[in-house]
Amino acid sequence: MDHFAYRNRSLYCDDVPVAELAAHYGTPLYVYSEATLVHHLKQIQDAFAEAKPIICYSIKANGNLSIARLMGQHGAGFDVTSGGEFYRAMKAGPSDAKIVFAGVGKSDAEIQFALENKVYLFDVESEQELHAIGAVAEKMGVVANVALRVNPDLPPKTHVKTDTSVKGVKFGLDIETVLDVAKGVVGHKNLCVAGLHMHLGSPILSAEPYKQGAEKGVKLITELRKQGHNVTVLNMGGGFGIHYRKQEALHASAFAKEILPAVKETGCQLVLEPGRFIVGNAGILVSRVVFTKETGGKRYVIQDAAMNDLIRPTLYDSFHRIWPVTPKDTVPEQPADYEADIPGTIKQDVVGPVCESGDFLAKARNLPELHRGELLAVFSAGAYGMAMASNYNARCRAAEVLVTGGTHRLIRRRETYTDLVAAEVDCLK
Ligand code: LLP
Repeated sequence: MDHFAYRNRSLYCDDVPVAELAAHYGTPLYVYSEATLVHHLKQIQDAFAEAKPIICYSIKANGNLSIARLMGQHGAGFDVTSGGEFYRAMKAGPSDAKIVFAGVGKSDAEIQFALENKVYLFDVESEQELHAIGAVAEKMGVVANVALRVNPDLPPKTHVKTDTSVKGVKFGLDIETVLDVAKGVVGHKNLCVAGLHMHLGSPILSAEPYKQGAEKGVKLITELRKQGHNVTVLNMGGGFGIHYRKQEALHASAFAKEILPAVKETGCQLVLEPGRFIVGNAGILVSRVVFTKETGGKRYVIQDAAMNDLIRPTLYDSFHRIWPVTPKDTVPEQPADYEADIPGTIKQDVVGPVCESGDFLAKARNLPELHRGELLAVFSAGAYGMAMASNYNARCRAAEVLVTGGTHRLIRRRETYTDLVAAEVDCLK
């Protein structure tokens, strides 16, 4: 469920016409719905309520300060993967927000920064990292709480670039080695192995991997406790899928059904790290058609959003629904199935202005004939959209707007040409 809906052939975000936002802020423009963000967070909080979970919003999906602040205000902690994300979480979150820190390459400086700022748990991804954390903690005279991130070795679940729990990926400790690694730090004065962590991949459209992962987790926790580690936290990561094409995603309760038994059995505090589930369908990217053209027997819609704004189609061949913001009455107001034949449409490639043949948002997509100046909505763009945006081709990054009911606020201004060179040192001038 999201708060982007057509009324009389005009797309609205909550109670604001998207066309009005495009006129006001320009394009390309990211538009987020506060009601949708809160709704999705609440769906997870409710589904897992009996476990009193700590929901650590995965800031990598969308780290905008206003979005992170909103999450904190509604009871979320944060999952971060770099010192920079830690800083964002601290800046936007409440002072007592729980921050978990994953990532395979934490530097000593990042470890120290996290310890100074009361990290809740490090998700440890290698033996060397565990000892590096121990060493930094010793120098600082503190105890670092860590969760061992296990790679539970499950069958492939997602795109090869985002599957994180199949054998051979760089993430986590091999399931066969976790106990040996843990044994090496029994009694360590500056390390407390307080948790077990796994993140299975993203996006996941089945609850089965969570069931299998949780079962493996229970066994490991039992063994870790036998070693003398006081394991009190089970962190099952993020990865819950969302509707990109139709209604293919699961309700949070389907995941809860498979994860909660492990929580009960171990008596652990449950941590979850959802990102996409909360913000993915709470955001759209709005673009404007610059030109149309036909070449090589293909029709192209060239619009002003490009791979630097939304790289997911280029990087993972991801499918994002695209439809005019104010569709004419020659086509359905909103198709039920964007991949089926849609009356009044022709197949077109939706591309951006970047100088790469791989710069596209959709290929052979059913769309009405479009004209210069028309607005398009690219749906499900809230997660890993702006977060992965770049300045490639010296393009200014888009503005971001948060809609709350009938009001809208700028939460990131559009970049300027001056911004593009602001960090550079023009030393030969
Ligand atoms: N926890 C850890 C340790 C993660 O690595 C991730 C995502 C998450 C939580 C959040 O996963 P989510 O709930 O958002 O699925 N750029 C890709 C996705 C990369 C995900 C990386 N890790 C995409 O656009 O599909």
